[in-house]
Amino acid sequence: MEPSSTAAGSPGSSRTLIAALVVVAAMACVILLIWMIGKAQIDPYVQATLNLQGTSEHGGQLFRMNCAGCHGIAGQGLLGPKLTDVSSRLGDPALIHQIVSGETPPMPSFQMEPQSMADLLSHLHTLH
Ligand code: HEC
Repeated sequence: MEPSSTAAGSPGSSRTLIAALVVVAAMACVILLIWMIGKAQIDPYVQATLNLQGTSEHGGQLFRMNCAGCHGIAGQGLLGPKLTDVSSRLGDPALIHQIVSGETPPMPSFQMEPQSMADLLSHLHTLH
């Protein structure tokens, strides 16, 4: 019996084991990080909006008040680009981002309740 033989007798293999453990731990950290980033990207406002059923009548009112001046009463385009079939080009999260972000002046940033956003989205879906 040589109790110390595994630890001291073969330093090469224990170093390999430690290296393997470090690699596994590093991979676990990377996977955890990717998972956390994925979680963080689901914006709670987008999530809340997508969970709601919109009514296109109210959405149409919001559109005529806030958007039609630039995009046309039927979304045919004026100062802003036409929005006909926009929902076949942009998914709902991208539409929400476009509406709230204010990243593309002169289009302003619009802040509204998730219910109003859901209504507006359902109106945008009807533009053909
Ligand atoms: C002051 C004028 C203006 C107003 C008001 C406005 N927009 Fe815009 N919008 C623009 C312009 C200009 C662009 C193009 C921005 C760019 O891509 O550079 C645009 C782009 C968009 C796009 C992206 C279109 C695409 O094909 O990529 C969407 C969707 C949109 N607007 C929706 C809306 C909605 C919904 C409202 C009302 C809540 C609104 N806009 C109000 C001017 C406006």
